[in-house]
Amino acid sequence: MKATFKILSTALVLLSACGGNPNSGSNSQSAEDRFVDSVVNSLTLKQKIGQLNQVTAGQVEEMEALAASGMMGSILNEANPQNLNRIQKAAVDNPPHIPVLISRDVIHGYKTIFPIPLGQAASFDTALVRQGSEISAVEASSDGIRWTFSPMLDIARDPRWGRIAEGYGEDPYLTSVMGAAAVRGYQGNGNLSKPTSMAACAKHFVGYGAAVGGRDYNSTYIPMRQLRNVYLPPFRAAANEGVATYMSSFNDNDGVPSTGNKLILSDILRGEWKFDGFVVSDWFSIGEMVNHGFADDMKHAAERAINAGLDMDMVANAYKDNLEALISEGKVSEKTVDNACRNIVRIKYRLGLFTNPYISTSQDVKYAPAHLAAAQKSAEESAVLLKNNGVLPFKNFKKILLTGPMSDAPHDQLGTWVFDGEKSHTVTPLVALKDAGYEVNYVPVLTYSRDKNLSNLSKAIAAAKTADVIVFVGGEESILSGEAHCLANLNLQGAQSQLLEALKKTGKPVVSVIMAGRPLTIADDLNNSDAMIYMFHPGTMGGPALVNLLSGNVTPSGKLPVTFPKSVGQVPIYYGQNMTGRPASGHEVLLDDIPAEAGQTSLGCTSYMLDAGFGPLLEFGFGLSYTSFEFSDFNINRTSFSGENDEIKVTFLIKNSGNYDGAEIPQLYVRDLSASITRPIKELKAFTRVFLKKGESKKVELSMPLSSLKFFGLDDKEVLEKGKFTLWIANSSNVDKAAWKCDFEVK
Ligand code: BGC
Repeated sequence: MKATFKILSTALVLLSACGGNPNSGSNSQSAEDRFVDSVVNSLTLKQKIGQLNQVTAGQVEEMEALAASGMMGSILNEANPQNLNRIQKAAVDNPPHIPVLISRDVIHGYKTIFPIPLGQAASFDTALVRQGSEISAVEASSDGIRWTFSPMLDIARDPRWGRIAEGYGEDPYLTSVMGAAAVRGYQGNGNLSKPTSMAACAKHFVGYGAAVGGRDYNSTYIPMRQLRNVYLPPFRAAANEGVATYMSSFNDNDGVPSTGNKLILSDILRGEWKFDGFVVSDWFSIGEMVNHGFADDMKHAAERAINAGLDMDMVANAYKDNLEALISEGKVSEKTVDNACRNIVRIKYRLGLFTNPYISTSQDVKYAPAHLAAAQKSAEESAVLLKNNGVLPFKNFKKILLTGPMSDAPHDQLGTWVFDGEKSHTVTPLVALKDAGYEVNYVPVLTYSRDKNLSNLSKAIAAAKTADVIVFVGGEESILSGEAHCLANLNLQGAQSQLLEALKKTGKPVVSVIMAGRPLTIADDLNNSDAMIYMFHPGTMGGPALVNLLSGNVTPSGKLPVTFPKSVGQVPIYYGQNMTGRPASGHEVLLDDIPAEAGQTSLGCTSYMLDAGFGPLLEFGFGLSYTSFEFSDFNINRTSFSGENDEIKVTFLIKNSGNYDGAEIPQLYVRDLSASITRPIKELKAFTRVFLKKGESKKVELSMPLSSLKFFGLDDKEVLEKGKFTLWIANSSNVDKAAWKCDFEVK
């Protein structure tokens, strides 16, 4: 297809006059500015407003007409390449000749579905996350999608919140490095102009994961210091990685909806972080400011949003319908609209859309063997071994009783936010176990996760008699997590726990496999299992990944990216809580310890619950292996440091002292012992993934710049404070079991 760009040709003349090339060159910054200015300066006010308008797909003819009118800066929810090429042609053939930015929620894969982001976080493998995002971009861009609403960087410390599935868990550091890796992968590894890249979108900016009570869309109450120290860092890391866009969140924080929050959208994002891409609202979130009671009507909402620094309106038509009037009334300056338009045109330019707006449909890259292999590796590394009494890996097991509602659930094992991955491509545990040559007797008993019908239980019990091992695959259907899918009860749904209990009573070894979008309260289910592997929702290749894990071809290596509570009543519970005045002492008086008619006393005197104790069921960073690792020969470069450019380096030896090849994830935690404000009990500051053949040893270095000890203190300014710190090298956040501990000082 041939495009005629009247504006572009003028701009190109300008560029060539100064030796520039639209997408590269030594003087690329000024070439880009010249190009963007030349485009924006030539637009009418209406055309500029058109660029700020994002619409959702409708009939293709209507979309073409809208594109031709110049009132469609971006489209979402259209993934048919033929339709998209028609829409694009209408846009570039008509004034103002600006290509449309084609967007979609490509969250953990396009066709080839990777584990949900929470699962990917459990891999602690940034390279794999980067690769997964790159593959998602390659597949999605082959259908014309050049902008994804991912990664979600919301810190989530409440598993009742269904969207915990979409992010990288509870920890600011883990979320920061995973998020940056995802941005890099989506954005062509730093080359956004590659036709196989997608602009990434850091969402939901900001605080959305702290919704009161874990109820989606609810208010948040995050004080500024906590916002700065916990919720903002992953978004800042995305800015440093060059993320192209941000999405404002639905929540109001302490009374101010993010979509109208100037402090966040302008002062911090642009002022402090120097972000020069654009910010899109969430779905209709400008309109929702009326529901919040933060705006009188849609016009007022548009005024508050654009003046706060919100560039693009997702589907509310608030800008399209009101900005002209707001400008003529003097409530919004045309300069504000110019800036928003410039931010959007800049990203279109960086994506190379002005030179190549169309999709080439000649190459089919979807479900490529290399993509499936990467998805399988990701599912293998995302699986966390929570318990193993020696039953895994399978030794001489040939005959398997396979049961449970997720054993053959090709739709549900894909997880939330899957629009494009087809279940016909999913390989389930049932299919994979059979393919691997096991003798599988499949008696699901429960056909979906909420099923309460145990009428087939006797069949399973009978089948257990002839089985070497029982594999129960349960968890949650994909629809039970994700947006708007919050839960008050985090036990296994339906009759799954009863089924497990009955299976355990058969006396046969029971291996449980859980596929879920969140941490579930599985204390009883762990007791009823000889081994448990938590796979989150593992995606397309979950089945083959599971077979490799069960058989021992692959040793589990995932670590929990989020704390697992014993019960919902412990929520929120997370490892990085601040130091309290009465820290847990290990001497907990629990319910059964209290005599009848006990006199009034401050039992236990520390911060814990009488019926749950202090600790969680499973701590952040925890995960078992088939093999064992020994850490030794620790060395720290110094114990006294100064200046934020200084670096702490810890070296040590890891030996695989067990009987299987496998990977370990050593983690470095730090506690700031005394500061101007209370600080977390411990914070993850570095980790690495080390693969070792059995018997092999490797020297490992974990390092952290001193700048990572900075925090926002009393006056909300970022400081590196002098003082004493403790550092641990451990294989989970339970530093009481750390392999090494060392004190150091910042002078
Ligand atoms: C979600 C976003 C998503 C958007 C577009 C909203 O409801 O909160 O995460 O990107 O819809 O589909």
